[in-house]
Amino acid sequence: MKVDITFSRKGAGGYSVFIDSLPKMEFNTKVAVITNPKVSGLHIRKVLKNLKAKEIYIITVPDGEEYKNFESLNFILDRLFDHKLDRKSILIAFGGGVIGDMTGFAAAIFQRGIDFIQIPTTLLSQVDASVGGKTGINNKYGKNLIGAFHQPIAVYIDVSFLKTLPKREFSAGIAEIVKMAVTFDKDFFEWLERANLYNDEDLKVAIKKSVETKAWVVSQDEKEKGIRAVLNYGHTFAHVIENLTNYKTYLHGEAVAIGMVMANRLALSLGLLKEDEAKRIEELLKRYDLKTTFKIKDAEEFYEHFFLDKKSADKKIKFILPKGIGSYEMRDDIDREIVLQILREFEG
Ligand SMILES: NC(=O)c1ccc[n+]([C@@H]2O[C@H](COP(=O)([O-])OP(=O)(O)OC[C@H]3O[C@@H](n4cnc5c(N)ncnc54)[C@H](O)[C@@H]3O)[C@@H](O)[C@H]2O)c1
Ligand SMILES: [Zn+2]
Repeated sequence: MKVDITFSRKGAGGYSVFIDSLPKMEFNTKVAVITNPKVSGLHIRKVLKNLKAKEIYIITVPDGEEYKNFESLNFILDRLFDHKLDRKSILIAFGGGVIGDMTGFAAAIFQRGIDFIQIPTTLLSQVDASVGGKTGINNKYGKNLIGAFHQPIAVYIDVSFLKTLPKREFSAGIAEIVKMAVTFDKDFFEWLERANLYNDEDLKVAIKKSVETKAWVVSQDEKEKGIRAVLNYGHTFAHVIENLTNYKTYLHGEAVAIGMVMANRLALSLGLLKEDEAKRIEELLKRYDLKTTFKIKDAEEFYEHFFLDKKSADKKIKFILPKGIGSYEMRDDIDREIVLQILREFEG
């Protein structure tokens, strides 16, 4: 299966996302594979078996979001210089979204930009992070605040890598799949209600649909000036939840699942969504063991946290709300009191 991504921007090329077993890759240049010890230990053999290049280097950085920083980036760049990679060399991101974002950024800035390939190994990175060209790292001011738009030349998605993925990480990826369906594609949502994503064939279809959706969005709005923001459905709330729990209690996708349920409550109160539609979304999330509630300690404190989000510019909070299933509304004009009322429902 294959999804082609093109851009409306003049002069911007495109690339393909392949959803299949990892293909043979052959390059007449130097290649560096960027990965972490966990992913490398489990799966690097498969990559090396399929990869031919002039020279191959494996660069390993520590595992974890806390290592998506300048130090790791610098470590990667130093190794690229040590091994004398040049402007024709290619980087391969082999891991989850952390590795993908950091490798993409290294590729964006090494000698003003070289090509890179994504081989995402988590479900979240297969359906979301590896597509769209956002790359970057975190710093003490927040997540992904430093980065660049840099599109990969290809994305290879092989679901067999997911066999070793912890169950929670798998479910976290499902949340992002549900996100795409609810906001953009009713048929896809209804298909998800019938499908079983623990089955590889169904899973591949879901990945393809998600990638297609994200690709369609990104191709219209590469730099998030408009429609790309819809991919943040559930995220306005999720970022607060992650922040309030110090990024320790919930995986990102788990927080997104709760965030979508909160956004749905808001949509419900504004008459955009019906009770039974909200229920169906919640049921789908629960089916994959995603939590759909969060005890808010203090609704006002929660509300204030919205403003920490870099996307809430000008003291306006941007909510992405489902309009029925398969459509959306972007709203930045919702009364504080209306939002607080919803947040209070989650207090306890
Ligand atoms: N660029 C984008 O558009 C975009 C979109 C969404 C998320 N992101 C970024 O992605 C990151 C989150 O990505 P993630 O959820 O993949 O997290 P992650 O990269 O931290 O991976 C999660 C964990 O799973 C492990 N792992 C990876 N593949 C595995 C496998 N096959 N088997 C067993 N373990 C495996 C990793 O080592 C890690 O411990 C965040 O930094 C986020 O900002 C970027
Ligand atoms: Zn997300």
